[in-house]
Amino acid sequence: MRIDVVTLFPDFVRQCAAVGVVGRAQQRELLQVETWNPRDYTSDRHRTVDASSYGGGPGMVMLIEPLRAALAAIRDAAPEPVHVMYLSPQGARLTQGRVAALAKLPRIGLLCGRYEGVDERLLAREVDEEVSIGDYVLSGGELAAAVVIDAVGRLQRGALNDAQSAEQDSFSDGLLDCPHYAKPVHDALGSVPEVLLSGDHAAIARWRLKQSLGRTWLRRPDLLSKRALDTSSRALLDEFRREHAPPGQARPNETVDD
Ligand code: ADE
Repeated sequence: MRIDVVTLFPDFVRQCAAVGVVGRAQQRELLQVETWNPRDYTSDRHRTVDASSYGGGPGMVMLIEPLRAALAAIRDAAPEPVHVMYLSPQGARLTQGRVAALAKLPRIGLLCGRYEGVDERLLAREVDEEVSIGDYVLSGGELAAAVVIDAVGRLQRGALNDAQSAEQDSFSDGLLDCPHYAKPVHDALGSVPEVLLSGDHAAIARWRLKQSLGRTWLRRPDLLSKRALDTSSRALLDEFRREHAPPGQARPNETVDD
């Protein structure tokens, strides 16, 4: 997969994409990340990329022309079509489901805004999707672009060493991940749950699903309400809730719908 990023801070984006799993994916040629600086597509002496906003008010707006030229260069750089995304707090919130779909595309283009944003006419004509990484405001789209590159890059086949680990990620099945433990078995901070040492794979899988369901219920109930639980998952969650009820308050007949 190829990702082209339009940014006033190309070094920052390249450095973010050069480390860890995503850096390795690039070395293995599973992922190609290219950066394009809109200043290289200006025609004035000052390499101007922004101007004040019509209607007044504080902040500058990124100009159409350098961005349009940079996006045209991106489209010409390889034969496959480019799905262009603009990173902004006004976008639809990025989810793991969306990341998985993006990871299957041959190319994406990421447009990073700075200042107050980008001229709306460019967004309307040149951008396929506006995406936010969360309900907070960053000073530019670069960190968000780095997030997209990481989330999408690690899903490229061969990027992760353990083939299973992407399937076991939080959110990949709509639930949070279960807790993980490594040596030592006993530590001043506590012991590893017995079942994980049992070698009983079915019991371990059951425990892990119960923990995932329980954590999701405790920490992200919004995710559970979007997901229909089958009878066995519902029973596991009820078991978790009974185990985690404060002493004296266990209500054995309670179900998740109560
Ligand atoms: N640019 C500024 N804030 C952002 C956010 N929350 N998500 C994506 N891009 C942004």
